Amino acid sequence: MEVVVVPSAEQVASLAADAVCRLLQGAPGAVLGLATGSSPLALYAELIARHRRGEVSFARARAFTLDEYVGLPAGHPESYREVIRRELEDHVDFGPGAVRGPDGTAADLDRACREYEQAIRAAGGVDLQVLGIGTDGHVAFNEPGSSLTSLTRPKALAQQTRTDNARFFGGRVQEVPSLCLTQGLGTIGRAGHLVLLACGQQKAQAVAATVEGPLSASCPASVLQLHPHATVLLDPAAASAL
Ligand code: GLP
Repeated sequence: MEVVVVPSAEQVASLAADAVCRLLQGAPGAVLGLATGSSPLALYAELIARHRRGEVSFARARAFTLDEYVGLPAGHPESYREVIRRELEDHVDFGPGAVRGPDGTAADLDRACREYEQAIRAAGGVDLQVLGIGTDGHVAFNEPGSSLTSLTRPKALAQQTRTDNARFFGGRVQEVPSLCLTQGLGTIGRAGHLVLLACGQQKAQAVAATVEGPLSASCPASVLQLHPHATVLLDPAAASAL
């Protein structure tokens, strides 16, 4: 695992954008894995800026999002599919249908998860997966206790995660869904390059457990230790417990 500590959150975003742009410049039809949450927002803003300057095109790329809430109506502003549309997709040149996410509105959630796995495989797998990390060490919505080989499946959200994410729902934790669909740790581990971004003191313990702790389902992000090409980009606060 490559751990890079840079002086600011802007530089975390900039290094992550470098990795995405390098990939797309060499392989314009590459498959990206997109994360939601606040961690990748500066990265997406940077990618939009570079796209507007003509430095990167997504026209031949495809993308798969990591996870989705269950129980939010399609088009809800906090559904992860909408977040990705708003924060990145609408501002760059992805082709129609090029970005997909797990269908949290499906009547048969298990089937939706199986189909999502198949879609990722049919696309040839994810080349570069952007990741954030939860304060409890979760990646995507793989909460502590998740199998390290898990595939896309429905999961219950930990209370900590619902509390953390209440800020996106006007602070009302009761409005945060309690169920989600998430790529598994096994799914994520098949991506060619994992790029995890973490900034801020509140991530310091989870980052330390990920980088220096034992490989354990109690810190799902520790699965990065098994990956042959994992990059962890940190600001000084997120690196402060290393
Ligand atoms: C959310 C998402 C994760 C994200 C994490 C951290 O629950 N499902 O994909 O990485 O929590 O979020 P943030 O970046 O806002 O701290």
